[in-house]
Amino acid sequence: MMKTSSKKKSVLQLPRNRESAGTRISKPDTRLLDAEQFLLPTYKRQPVVMTHGRGAYVFDSTGKKYLDFLGGIAVNALGHAHPRVVKVIRREAARAIHLSNLFHNAYQGPLARKLANWSGMDRVFFSNSGTEAIDGAMKLARLFGRKPDEAPGTAAKKHRFLALENSFHGRTFGAISVTSTEKYRLPFAPVVPGAEFVRFNDIADLEAKLDDTVCAILLETVQGEGGIYPASEAFWNRARALATQHGALLIADEIQCGLGRTGRYFAYQKFSSRPDIVLIAKPLAAGLPLGAILATEEVASRVSPGMHGTTFGGGPLACAVALEFLKTVEDEKLLENIRLRGAELRDGLAKLAARFDFIREVRGEGLMLGVELSVEGGPFVSEAMRRGLLINCTHDFTLRLLPPFIITRAQVREFLRLFELVLAATPQQVSTDTAKSVGSNRVARATAR
Ligand SMILES: Cc1ncc(COP(=O)(O)O)c(C=O)c1O
Repeated sequence: MMKTSSKKKSVLQLPRNRESAGTRISKPDTRLLDAEQFLLPTYKRQPVVMTHGRGAYVFDSTGKKYLDFLGGIAVNALGHAHPRVVKVIRREAARAIHLSNLFHNAYQGPLARKLANWSGMDRVFFSNSGTEAIDGAMKLARLFGRKPDEAPGTAAKKHRFLALENSFHGRTFGAISVTSTEKYRLPFAPVVPGAEFVRFNDIADLEAKLDDTVCAILLETVQGEGGIYPASEAFWNRARALATQHGALLIADEIQCGLGRTGRYFAYQKFSSRPDIVLIAKPLAAGLPLGAILATEEVASRVSPGMHGTTFGGGPLACAVALEFLKTVEDEKLLENIRLRGAELRDGLAKLAARFDFIREVRGEGLMLGVELSVEGGPFVSEAMRRGLLINCTHDFTLRLLPPFIITRAQVREFLRLFELVLAATPQQVSTDTAKSVGSNRVARATAR
């Protein structure tokens, strides 16, 4: 059926086609009009059409170049059009994009082996996204908690999930149930029953909420969307000990912070104990959709064929690229680069924080950094875009930096130069409820015992 034109009026500030820029005839970009008319309005998108990328840079349809310190929200760890990734995609696309999980393919097994080596886990399930990995892990936790004498179909006694305040785990029903931000969860109530939130890094609250009805403690080792907040060592250790004591699983969501981002293969590797399940996604297949659940043998042994599955997850193309991504991180010694460039960035940001009093705090590790402001961050993101820099703002006040692992020293310097200009040029907007919002946005820094 033809679409009628009785649509809402455009509110977009549409960019003009390049050919027409600066001339009298200027046409709005019809791709943006189509997007506005036909897409579900789930995002407040910037009114630009991004067309391609090279290394740490992205280009829009007018030819404007941006230094990419967002990396597709922690996805493009090798930047754009990395030659090794392009080569594997070309090769595999000509062989088989999809086969089926009813058969083996050449890459799933070797990729699972490599992920097991990196993580210290035993078995792997491949999903299509982070949120799907979260939902799968929640199913595994319920399965693990169920006693043999509990009749199938009855609610298991051990069914509760403890997640953390300020968490973000995705958009499917399981994931929103353990995501604390109310606007993501409340409109869809009732969500999966049994989820509760523990104050961030608050051991006393964890102890108070944990009992034998809990099947899993689920946490981001470093909270990403929440504003770059690492779990404390004391909290991790206590969560590990309590989970073991009560027969619950400790699940580390490393979808944003894992696979090298913090300068280690996994962020939890700075602690002395490992979780029972690790979840990964974002950079795994260098931009192709792929996530994974990594589990211990004890957890994995509860699964039998038919209990869980996926059509697309673990396809040959995505797995071949993921294997190439992991090998590239090793071959190009990218963990070292992440640590070195991360330290340079932090140093530079600390100097800027001393000059601009509206920077409240710089935090994070490796190439996962947050710059918390006492004023609204949105205008800084827009000013950065105007100046050819991509960054992002989370929870209104924290600018989030997630540059690719291949970033060079010169590009860190380029970023710091641009960022300084952005900080100096952006009008500071202090909303009427800034104090309240900043206060509530900041997670309680509980004294860890
Ligand atoms: C920590 C964390 N968990 C889960 C997710 C959900 O992943 P996806 O968007 O691939 O479903 C995200 C996405 O931002 C995330 O940052």
